[in-house]
Amino acid sequence: MAGRDDTHFGYETVPLGEKQGMVDDVFHSVARRYDLMNDLMSGGLHRAWKDALVTAVNPPKGDAPFNLLDLAGGTGDVAFRVVAAGAAGTAATVCDINADMLSIGAERALARGLEDRVIFEQGNAEELGYPDRSFDCVTIAFGIRNVPRIERALAEAHRVLKFGGRFLCLEFSSVDVPGLDALYELYSFQVIPRIGRAVTGDREAYQYLVESIRRFPKPKALAQMMATAGFRRVTFTPMTGGVVALHSGWKL
Ligand SMILES: C[S@@+](CC[C@H](N)C(=O)[O-])C[C@H]1O[C@@H](n2cnc3c(N)ncnc32)[C@H](O)[C@@H]1O
Repeated sequence: MAGRDDTHFGYETVPLGEKQGMVDDVFHSVARRYDLMNDLMSGGLHRAWKDALVTAVNPPKGDAPFNLLDLAGGTGDVAFRVVAAGAAGTAATVCDINADMLSIGAERALARGLEDRVIFEQGNAEELGYPDRSFDCVTIAFGIRNVPRIERALAEAHRVLKFGGRFLCLEFSSVDVPGLDALYELYSFQVIPRIGRAVTGDREAYQYLVESIRRFPKPKALAQMMATAGFRRVTFTPMTGGVVALHSGWKL
């Protein structure tokens, strides 16, 4: 039975203090193939979900400064999209705990001549090294599920956000469309780990992925956690029949 200091790593019950190391092993293992896997697993849909996130971020089209913090930002996919959607004043800091994911992103920034506008910094979402009220917007895409203490990460996102700023969280959610739920279940457990093994050589990493999605709090529960962290006007929008949801809250 799970104790007070236990949590879940996929379907496994593990001591809270051990989850982060296990998550780090997953992303060290898949870092090089991470972006390719996103396309293969989602049939490219993750691009549409991230586009919806970027639309909600709504970076200024004029030259006004706009600083985004993309938490658990990995290889920088969201940050690059936000910078492309904004004007010259838009800049992004990608914060992730995993040096392998970050170094792929940093290489990409250099190759695109964006190293001054998209910077990569190692950090733990539960304990950010940024001063209070330093960012105009904070995003986290497919990241919060992996963080052992979600409430700490939400409190930190709230702390580093400026007043009037928006927090946006894109995350897998719960499918409740009859028919689609069974299909999604079959695809998740029978197909995704196999693609994972073929492409990254690591079946377990993708087994963890699908299990962690099932274990993740329902969207209403996450919305409640966001309100508890201090966010106002908290909403969520299910997409693709609830496969993912875009959560939004403001610091007011
Ligand atoms: C599924 S990837 C998402 C990457 C990126 N946001 C995207 O959408 O492509 C999850 C990321 O969360 C990061 N992560 C896990 N725990 C973290 C923590 N405590 N603090 C910061 N990043 C963390 C992992 O290293 C990994 O890069």
